[in-house]
Amino acid sequence: MRIGVLTGGGDCPGLNAVIRAVVRRAERGFGDQVVGFLDGWRGVVEDDTVALDVDACRGLLPRGGTVLGTSRLQPFGMQDGVERARGTIERHDLDGLVVVGGEGTLSCARGLHELGFPVVGVPKTIDNDINATEMTFGFETAVEIATEAIDRLHTTAESHDRVMVVEVMGRHVGHIAAWAGMAGGATVTLVPEEPFDVAEVCEVVRRRHERGRFASVLVVAEGARPIEGTMDMPEEEVDVFGHVRLGGIAHLVAAEIGRRTSFDTRVTILGHVQRGGTPTAFDRVLASRFGVAAVDAIHEGGLGMMTSLTAGEIVLVPLADAVAEVKKLDSGLWETAKVFFA
Ligand code: F6P
Repeated sequence: MRIGVLTGGGDCPGLNAVIRAVVRRAERGFGDQVVGFLDGWRGVVEDDTVALDVDACRGLLPRGGTVLGTSRLQPFGMQDGVERARGTIERHDLDGLVVVGGEGTLSCARGLHELGFPVVGVPKTIDNDINATEMTFGFETAVEIATEAIDRLHTTAESHDRVMVVEVMGRHVGHIAAWAGMAGGATVTLVPEEPFDVAEVCEVVRRRHERGRFASVLVVAEGARPIEGTMDMPEEEVDVFGHVRLGGIAHLVAAEIGRRTSFDTRVTILGHVQRGGTPTAFDRVLASRFGVAAVDAIHEGGLGMMTSLTAGEIVLVPLADAVAEVKKLDSGLWETAKVFFA
């Protein structure tokens, strides 16, 4: 068979591990040939490719980023994009295309599948917000990075008796914030799923500092928002893809806490540090399992499906289920996380 692979959307640790796994399984398991498309869907529309074999993938397993490059471009948004993409698939005589991506990239894959494109999805994102899979690779690595940052902020916060506000990624969901906040012993964690009341946050901080020199570390997901009318918020800006430009809620929260409590506050925005660098062992293993399963799916008639971690096993689920909605925080986990706010 001839198999294509692309990585689309925001990068995350583990993408190279998937590419390596796809190539290893395809070449060694089935004698297939693999072609890599550069910069996500752009490479498919513009037929920009690189040949991949086991030798070309040496050393990839621990490497962050993606050697194929990535972009947020999609055939549906490009001039004659779908027809040009179809032409590329036909020219390369592909039996299957492994699409490694988050919600945007997989939604596009689902749309193309309905038009007859031979796609199989692999979910990736540090945000862990893809439906129909318990976990995406990249998430665990991001949580480790954020937890280490919180640990480090604790010691400097204690020395100065300060309130530290640390902002983590999480546009629509608070998975990273909830996990890292719980693992790092955050005083309070703020997530997009539950609008916050800054007066309550100040109260928790005040009570904590009244008990002695117990510095606070607050974890804020970038998409967290106050209950309407409880805090002044600036107008939101939108980028060329229609995404609200996030980043900065931590500054607003810290300023408000400083104003209302007069505690000394400092802000740390972790940003893309969470997306860079080498994946954890768990993410390398999950990415490798997904990559192998995606090639197997192409051989076993699983087009239009996505690899998923379900009850510890790798299974296939319809792409349509995966992109039906964003996976929000599990309410049980969130209630447990809140037990430790104080
Ligand atoms: O990968 C998802 C994500 O990390 C979001 O949490 C974040 O808002 C977004 O990517 C930022 O991506 P970029 O800066 O690449 O547009």
